[in-house]
Amino acid sequence: MWRPDSWRERPALQQPEYADTAELERVLAELHLLPPLVTSWEIIGLRDQLAEATEGKRFVLQAGDCAERFIDCTPVRITNTLKVLLQMSMVLVIGAQRPVIRIGRFAGQYAKPRSANHETRDGVTLPSYRGDNINRPEFTAAARCADPQLLLRGYERASMMLNFVRALVKGGFADLHHPEYFDLDWVHHSPLAAEYHRMVDTISTSLRFMENVLDVRVGETDRIDFFTGHEALHLRYEEAQTRKVPRRRGYFNLHTHFPWVGLRTNDPGGAHIEYVRGIENPIGIKVGAGTTRDQVSRWIETLDADRQPGRLTFIHRYGAGRIAEALPRLIEDVRAAGGRVLFICDPMHGNTQTTASGVKTRDFADIQSEIEQAFDIHAAMGQKLGGVHIELTGENVTECVGGARGQTEEDLTRAYESQVDPRLNYEQALELAFLIARKMKNGPR
Ligand code: PEP
Ligand code: CO
Repeated sequence: MWRPDSWRERPALQQPEYADTAELERVLAELHLLPPLVTSWEIIGLRDQLAEATEGKRFVLQAGDCAERFIDCTPVRITNTLKVLLQMSMVLVIGAQRPVIRIGRFAGQYAKPRSANHETRDGVTLPSYRGDNINRPEFTAAARCADPQLLLRGYERASMMLNFVRALVKGGFADLHHPEYFDLDWVHHSPLAAEYHRMVDTISTSLRFMENVLDVRVGETDRIDFFTGHEALHLRYEEAQTRKVPRRRGYFNLHTHFPWVGLRTNDPGGAHIEYVRGIENPIGIKVGAGTTRDQVSRWIETLDADRQPGRLTFIHRYGAGRIAEALPRLIEDVRAAGGRVLFICDPMHGNTQTTASGVKTRDFADIQSEIEQAFDIHAAMGQKLGGVHIELTGENVTECVGGARGQTEEDLTRAYESQVDPRLNYEQALELAFLIARKMKNGPR
């Protein structure tokens, strides 16, 4: 029998340890009573849209920070994030020729899985940084101590961010009639400059066309949907957001529309899968190399026994060098289990490398290659890739190498701020959107 806390009977990986458990219980009890951040009808709305994406009628753009930071809960950062996501989605609409579902990796992406529980520097060993909801990145014993109060601070920031996003979208921020809003300096460095400029012009023309035909002014309506997603990692925290609502059956996680289970915690017999099994939200599972047919069939059987399109999304993240071997097998395994799953390509997490000087980075060329292979493989197997999952920021950081501007390893020292994974910057993100749009328009190889 599933209950919001039945996961506690299973092995739960990646959970922080708190010294003051009484304080943790007080915080969780308080969290449980606070108003939710999202509603059940929005969640069901997203599930219905994802069902259409599963049938190839929509395309998903899921994107945002690897880990949100509390200090980034500022008006400028939030508007920049919204801007890059909106612009990418408009570019993708041109390529996909179908509506794009926008899911931010935001308003709750505050807890991170770590490969090691501890970190040692100069002979000093401290607990690893696990995201701003848990502890702080500075390398001191006090900062690395898991603090229950941070869960409340995180929930409040998620709420503030979402409040601002909703107000901006409703207030017409999504008004992108003006191609000059797109900062396209980097295009000069690209051999595809002319094509990119044509695409931006197409966006303006299509907007005008839609407005004339539908008699709505795009951006001044409530038609732009924004959904949120984060990794459902900290299970006591997620449990506190798990609630029943009047006149609907089942439980909802009312913190976020689209919780996903990360690679390190996706064991079909583990606590995280047990937790998401019982909630009505659409669920994402990160799938990596080495996944077996047995795992695939257990995920499908456990999480989507009725084979309802929209319920289950596999976010595959193999790496440019592995996808050709791994993805066809995944697709076959899903078919063997009778699954009706949405496939999203995460071209980030299988392509992380460390430079000779010890900096974590990703190469734009690998990211592009994994996505292009994903489109080709799905097409060759008679289906469509349903979306992409990208780590990015609206800021001008230097964390990933490559792209039209030719960012090099030497550049990485200039503006590297991620505590966890390297993200595409604004220009790289927009360039990737153009390349994806181009790929979708031109079809498979
Ligand atoms: C992430 O999405 O930041 C992440 C940790 O990914 P994965 O679980 O796929 O490694
Ligand atoms: Co990441």
